[in-house]
Amino acid sequence: MSPDALDFLPYGRPWIDADDLRAVEAALKSGMITTGPQVKAFEAAVERYTGAAFATAVSSGTAALHAAFACLNLKAGEEVIVPALSFVASANAVRYVGAMPIFVDIDDKTLNLNPALVEKAITPRTRAILAVDFTGLPADLARLADIAHDQKLYLVEDAAHSFGAVQCDHKVGAIPGVDLTTLSFHPVKAITTGEGGMVLTPHENLHRKLQRFRHHGLAVQAEERTMPLEGPWHQEMVDLGFNYRLTDFQCALGVSQLAKLDRFLDKRRDLVERYGQVLKDLAGCRLPSREPPDTRSAWHLFVIRLEGALAERRREVVEHLKKRGIGTQVHYRPIPRQPYYHTGGAPQEFPVANRYYREALSLPLFPAMRFEDVDRVGRALWEAVA
Ligand SMILES: Cc1ncc(COP(=O)(O)O)c(C=O)c1O
Repeated sequence: MSPDALDFLPYGRPWIDADDLRAVEAALKSGMITTGPQVKAFEAAVERYTGAAFATAVSSGTAALHAAFACLNLKAGEEVIVPALSFVASANAVRYVGAMPIFVDIDDKTLNLNPALVEKAITPRTRAILAVDFTGLPADLARLADIAHDQKLYLVEDAAHSFGAVQCDHKVGAIPGVDLTTLSFHPVKAITTGEGGMVLTPHENLHRKLQRFRHHGLAVQAEERTMPLEGPWHQEMVDLGFNYRLTDFQCALGVSQLAKLDRFLDKRRDLVERYGQVLKDLAGCRLPSREPPDTRSAWHLFVIRLEGALAERRREVVEHLKKRGIGTQVHYRPIPRQPYYHTGGAPQEFPVANRYYREALSLPLFPAMRFEDVDRVGRALWEAVA
């Protein structure tokens, strides 16, 4: 077996070092295994990093999306605009609160919501727009915020891919006009807590609801109570909530990981540049578009497009890379093409997302990768395409 075959490169991998282990060990030994001081410390650190006014840590990115829609009090029959291309959790969270996702096609260059199509999809039942920052590139949030403002809609940003990204000098989490931003700390994301997520908002009233929602809907602050205090045991449930708490030791890992986020982002950017050099002359391989001015991607994914006849050979390419010890993935089947969401509409309904799905391939990208690894992926791709 070649040394390459032994050294498998997955498409994503977390970076966990001695500092992270020490932080988790200290939290585990502190006696506060679940809600303890690290939860507030992690929330405060993310507020400082992003410039967000309020942060609520929850148990996953999916829980963060659920909490975001729940605190908007959406009702059955109301609609939320969702991009056709995202992970299923983006649409599922809309269903969790009884509302309907209305899918809208993406822009071919940015792979994010196409704002012109968003405007056309708004009906009297629309309550919110969900922008997903696909691959780490922030959506056109200025334009979407204008639309949301004009139509009196909420703007929610699914930033599972884009923690650390910047638009017009604002970090994701504090972009003007966005009402709620959700993060994921799943192991392939920019930083990890194992599973985990967070909701950021500039609105104190929404923040209060989020804090209750993750803790069964129980009143957290004295002023949220509607009954006289009976004693130190007093527990008062004012909304319907869930147990979506993130543990103290996971938050300790989050604090330790956050201290490395900028380094991780720089490394991802360097690797992307290297991919650009290695693959620029590969016929039939379209590289990701350049970032729009004033926007810095978090480069969660490096997605190439196999165009024309090469798209038909994608499976062969994937298998060749696998033989060379290189993992790839396709992110994602367009959500309206999932059996649960299938509306029976014409296959040409989301032409940009559908074409993307035929052509896309995510290559390995994670901070522990070396330039030699990128070169190895490049060589294997050239061989596969030859
Ligand atoms: C765009 C997007 N939104 C939401 C999620 C859900 O995050 P989690 O896995 O932390 O629940 C993911 C996870 O991959 C995602 O890619």
